[in-house]
Amino acid sequence: MKSNKQFLIAAFGHTRHSHPSPLPLRKVVTSGTLSVAAILATACGSGGSGSMQSDAAAANAALVAQGQQIFRFDTFGDETKWTDTLRMHEVIAAAVDPTTALSVGLKVDAEALPPAVVQGIQNGTVDLKSPATTIALLKLNAVIGLQGTVETIAGTDTLTHVGITCALCHSTVDNSFAPGIGKRLDGWPNRDLNPGAIIALSPALDAATKAVFNSWGKGKYDPRFNLDGINGPQVIPPAYGLAGIHSITSTGDGSDIAYWNRYVGVTQMGGHGSFSEPRTGVNVTNGTDDLITSKLPALQAYQLSLNAPPPPAGSFDPAAAARGQAVFNGAGTCSTCHSGSELTDANSRLHPASDVVSEPEPNGTPSYASRSATRQYRTAPLHGLWQHAPYFHNGTAPTLDAVVQMYNTKKSLGLSNADMADLVEYLKSL
Ligand code: HEC
Ligand code: HEC
Repeated sequence: MKSNKQFLIAAFGHTRHSHPSPLPLRKVVTSGTLSVAAILATACGSGGSGSMQSDAAAANAALVAQGQQIFRFDTFGDETKWTDTLRMHEVIAAAVDPTTALSVGLKVDAEALPPAVVQGIQNGTVDLKSPATTIALLKLNAVIGLQGTVETIAGTDTLTHVGITCALCHSTVDNSFAPGIGKRLDGWPNRDLNPGAIIALSPALDAATKAVFNSWGKGKYDPRFNLDGINGPQVIPPAYGLAGIHSITSTGDGSDIAYWNRYVGVTQMGGHGSFSEPRTGVNVTNGTDDLITSKLPALQAYQLSLNAPPPPAGSFDPAAAARGQAVFNGAGTCSTCHSGSELTDANSRLHPASDVVSEPEPNGTPSYASRSATRQYRTAPLHGLWQHAPYFHNGTAPTLDAVVQMYNTKKSLGLSNADMADLVEYLKSL
């Protein structure tokens, strides 16, 4: 045990991530140093033609690079919520060893691990049953979506602050090193993550509130519960494949991603800044400073750069998918709403709850649309479907087979079993 600890300290002392806190990183993001450097780098790379087009491309590349840092590492000062209010730093230090962290769906960025730690995990000298190892991983900035500040107090590495970032829910890893440990996949929803179970560990919550959080299950989070008191968790959606779609979230609350990023950054993550929405009466200000507004353009540019992942080779039957496309456009009537290159009519209209097959909500919960700003649903874009089961805003369809069954039954489509099987192959191909 003792030797493990010494090993960790020795190993972790020699990394480029040995800062005691994530502050230096944030400084890069907010000072604009990165963006100037990136503009210079990209401009030089473009051969110095000086055309307006390459200047614009370089500026966008810089913005995207800056947005990636924000998406992955910026807490917008939400330590106020996760540390000062919820005291999650105490929970982590006392009880969350890496095995527990992985079991609630937290992911580890293998590329942030120095070789000695990789070796230690492989040969078992790094103790995955010790919370001290979690703190060491936080110090390396290797736990996806968690930003820890680790300070040396009386000779011991101590977690003094913890905050969360967008990547907590909207990134996962490719498991290339071990289950839950691998390269980052930004924009891919973390459907293993159990945010409710994690929040319920907070000593600051009463039993009734903990029971609500514990009822959500993995891959789900209710981004309105703390405001309207209704318990209706939503599936964590992808943050990729949104370019060209001007209707954001399952209810189309915003016309651009930045609208929702401000909402979630302030009202859910607890970042410093303001969000106000007259349609729902939500009006929240955290802190006296604004650590969000200036970051929204870069954060949005980054998300718009994330494409839906193509289906893995061999994951569907191409001939059946081609037949399924004909069902989609014909007898299935799917293309009456799932139209255009993104397979959604989101830019021209929203739909009343009576149009969707995912209602009524489970457990008698009020319609999610009724809790939103638009009170309607957006036709979901369909690229990358293969990657993110379960389906619909509330996850009522566990598989694509279930999706097609629900449409066939509820919309009385009268599709044959063969048509439905082909349609599923088409959906897998998107
Ligand atoms: C605790 C988990 C969690 C965190 C953290 C989180 N989100 Fe989300 N996000 C969700 C859920 C759940 C929804 C679904 C909301 C809805 O549809 O009403 C969502 C919706 C979205 C959407 C809409 C996707 C679409 O199809 O239109 C985007 C974009 C998004 N989040 C980006 C972000 C960004 C950027 C951050 C950081 C500022 C962030 N999220 C932080 C859980 C989270
Ligand atoms: C009347 C418009 C309309 C028609 C017709 C329609 N859809 Fe949808 N579709 C929607 C809406 C709106 C949603 C979002 C519902 C929700 O999130 O609960 C959706 C969601 C989906 C989803 C879930 C996507 C996700 O990310 O979870 C799939 C898959 C889907 N539809 C496939 C189909 C198929 C296949 C057909 C034809 C059999 C079809 N749809 C017909 C409007 C429509």
